[in-house]
Amino acid sequence: MKEYATLTIGDKILKLPVITGTEGEKAIDIRTLRQETGHITYDPGFGNTGSCKSKITFMDGEKGILRHRGIPIEQLAEKSSFVETSFLLINGHLPTREELTRTSIMLNDQSMVHEDMQFFFQNFPRLSHPMGILSAMVNALRSFYPEIIETQEDFEKVFIRLLSKIRTLAAMSYKISRGHKLIYPRTDYTYCANFLNMMFDSPVNPYRLDRDMIKALNIFWILHADHEQNCSTSAVKTVGSARANIYASISAGIAALWGPLHGGANQKVIEMLTDIHEKGGGIKEVVEKAKNKRSPFRLMGFGHRVYKTYDPRAKIMKKACRKILPKLKIDDPLLDIAKQLEEVALNDPYFIDKNLYPNVDFYSGILLRAMGIPTKMFPVMFAIGRLPGWIAQWKENMDDREQKITRPRQIYTGPSKSPYVPISKRGLKEKNE
Ligand code: CMC
Repeated sequence: MKEYATLTIGDKILKLPVITGTEGEKAIDIRTLRQETGHITYDPGFGNTGSCKSKITFMDGEKGILRHRGIPIEQLAEKSSFVETSFLLINGHLPTREELTRTSIMLNDQSMVHEDMQFFFQNFPRLSHPMGILSAMVNALRSFYPEIIETQEDFEKVFIRLLSKIRTLAAMSYKISRGHKLIYPRTDYTYCANFLNMMFDSPVNPYRLDRDMIKALNIFWILHADHEQNCSTSAVKTVGSARANIYASISAGIAALWGPLHGGANQKVIEMLTDIHEKGGGIKEVVEKAKNKRSPFRLMGFGHRVYKTYDPRAKIMKKACRKILPKLKIDDPLLDIAKQLEEVALNDPYFIDKNLYPNVDFYSGILLRAMGIPTKMFPVMFAIGRLPGWIAQWKENMDDREQKITRPRQIYTGPSKSPYVPISKRGLKEKNE
């Protein structure tokens, strides 16, 4: 039986349909609200607003559940690879052996970027943030590969191109930011191995691949692969809703992800932990500073819009750090500081009352440091991981007949109608008073 919510505004009673998702979440369909009543809803940050129906990712923030296409994140992190998880997100099912082999071959075929791109980007100032370079490069891909997506085959080509080239571009952006020689992709390496090699191989110091390192990178990227309607994904979809090309849409997602409240938090966590380490002690002071409402400082890597319990990704990340660091013979003092900081915060009434728990970024930087990834590159690593999610969500949005160009409303609170005052008369009223 169809369910309705009843809304009374003045003497008007409105019956609004209730939509129920496969996991039982409910939404009130308010599409007729303004037309019927003249009212709109007010929801800054869209914390209570569903912008779409989606089959890609399910999250339960109260129970700490994250599943992609129904598969729990814990199983994907343990058993899958980043390429396989990307395929799952984008195509809706796990690949068969043939599909996976075909995808890997296509990824290898697409791994080079147009030679002109490197000359184009070599002139970025040396201290540029790699995230800015990456966003510009992905946007520029449209100029180098201008075909329009019309069929499923076109889409597959573009998604493989993006997935393959972003790792080459990311490694390039790092090498360019350091002024070092670029290293080209190799067809005999897997996706993650190729990235590590492009990052760390050099003409004077050949890079030796390590199996544990490759596994750690797969886990890191799987944990970032999608997170339903987050800020950067919403940016990708908003830009895409204007029918801008996919490269421009993804470039906007990278720009949004760069922010310290979103993907930029992993860099900020390491800077915070390093600061505590260098100054010695100071854990309690940092927690007190984060609680102080007069200070804009927040405990980085803590809190989440959706999770009101431990972020399941953070649990896996913490476990991965504990397992992989000893294997790599790395003893990182920042891991101990992070564990102590977590304990102090989780026992503090401020964090308990507000349900603030570690999020994915709290431990991810420690894993990246173990791989030798420089701090400035952390948000770029997040961006590569999130790419399959952006592509899957962009495609779903494009195919959804109920979607329209994104265009929220507002409540105007500025001055009411006022006359234009010529410049010679401005300020006269105040002077005369
Ligand atoms: N440290 C101190 N106080 C916090 C924190 C924090 N990390 N996070 C939230 N609060 C407080 C906030 O001040 C507010 O207090 P009050 O109700 O007294 O005004 C309350 O908790 C609710 O916070 P909010 O900003 O209204 O919550 P939100 O859902 O809008 O923001 C968030 C979520 C992730 C932006 C926020 O928790 C935050 O800034 N965290 C630190 C940055 C961070 O780690 N970001 C990575 C997020 S996970 C990766 C990703 O997917 O992007």
